[in-house]
Parts: sequence; structure tokens; C-alpha cells
Amino acid sequence: MEYEGYVDIHSHIIPGVDDGSQSFEESLDMLNMAYKQGVRTMYATPHFGSGKEKYDKALLLERFEKLKEMAEGVGDDGIELLLGNEIYYRHSTLELLEKGEIFTMGGTRYILVEFAYGISYNEMYRSLQRLVNAGYVPILAHIERYYCLYRRFSEIASLREMGIGLQINADSVIAKISSEASFCRKLIRNGYIHFLASDCHRAGWRPPVMKDGYDVLEKKTPPEYLERLICVNPDILRKNQFL
Ligand SMILES: [Fe+2]
Repeated sequence: MEYEGYVDIHSHIIPGVDDGSQSFEESLDMLNMAYKQGVRTMYATPHFGSGKEKYDKALLLERFEKLKEMAEGVGDDGIELLLGNEIYYRHSTLELLEKGEIFTMGGTRYILVEFAYGISYNEMYRSLQRLVNAGYVPILAHIERYYCLYRRFSEIASLREMGIGLQINADSVIAKISSEASFCRKLIRNGYIHFLASDCHRAGWRPPVMKDGYDVLEKKTPPEYLERLICVNPDILRKNQFL
């Protein structure tokens, strides 16, 4: 692999700001786990707008900066930490983005977006279109969780055509017998997905499992395609280019 390591674009690694890590010690444990899983770049994406957040902007930035420094000392090479948000879409989202209250992915035009799991497809489509029309590139977080997209391949293809980035959680592909896991693997094998990410929350609950996910997929997916999910597409994001 010509890339330095995996890029995990979705994590709740900043301590005490949402339902993710609860202390710097736990964050460090998670960073060490991620390092062993091959991750060298990680986007910290604390919840915004979901009601799970417990921070103001100043506190978030302070904890991010401290953790960023700690991450640089992990393993031999360190993990580079970048800041974003996992945005629970609301009508106010666009206005808050414009005001700089919400963090885009590492300062690019990319934003990580989630919805209520029971949202209708039409509402999801319209909301994403609003964001696209305003110049953002939404990445739809854990697309396997939305009822309106479950096994709806043509709807998923339409989102791709709109320019939406599609992300699947690594732990969703791991379960051996699960209809969700087989759906996820099928989506990946057929080239629908742009990003595989951990969405890690705690050291002991939804830990960072990027390599475990990769290993499951490796059996039936060409390595060039898997590299796109964890290296090439994150690199395009980082450079603020189009997927
Ligand atoms: Fe998340």
C-alpha cells in the first residue's frame, strides 16, 4: 500500500464532549487501539445537534488541541488528529455552518451528516440537496442504519449521483451472521461506498476496529477498492477535491 496508514473519518475520541470517550485516559487507550489497527490519521467528529453533546466551542477546541498533541506521541509514528463534527441534520444546520458554529471536516467543504434512522427518503434527499446547493459535500454517516435506504440500491445510487459521500461503520461489516452485515458487504463489493470508518465511541463499547473490518472485506473485495475506502477517498477529502 503506497499510503502511510488508514484514515478513520468518524470517531468520538475527544473526551467528555458527547457519548464517546469519557476521559483523556480512555481516549489514549482508544488511540493506541486505533494505531494497532493501522490508523495513522483520525477525524474527531463529536456529535452536534443530536442532543448528545455536552460542550461549548471553546471547551471542544481546548480538549481537541490537548488530545491532538497526545495523539502525536502514540506508537512510533503517531496519529494525526483532525477536527470535524457529526452533524445531526436540522433546519438550522446550514445557518450554523455559515456562522462557523459547526466544524467541517478538517476545514474542507466536506461535512459528516446523520439523520433520524426513521427519516423518509424524500426528506433525507431534500435536506442533503440543500447542503449540496450551499456548496458543501455531505458524507452520510453509517448509511446502513437508515430504514429508507435498507436494500434500496437505486435510492443509494441516486445519493451518489448527487455527489454525497457514503460511509459505512467498520463494525457493521464484521458480524458473521447478520442481514445488516451482508447488506453492507454487498454495498461495498458493488462499489456503492466511499468510506469505511470506525465511529468508535468507547474503549470497551464500539472500539476502533478498522483493520478487523478490512480483514473481513478483504476475502471478497479487490484490495484496490478497499484502499479507496480508507486511503484514497480520505485523501481526496483532505485535498478538498470531489469524490
Ligand atoms: Fe458517530
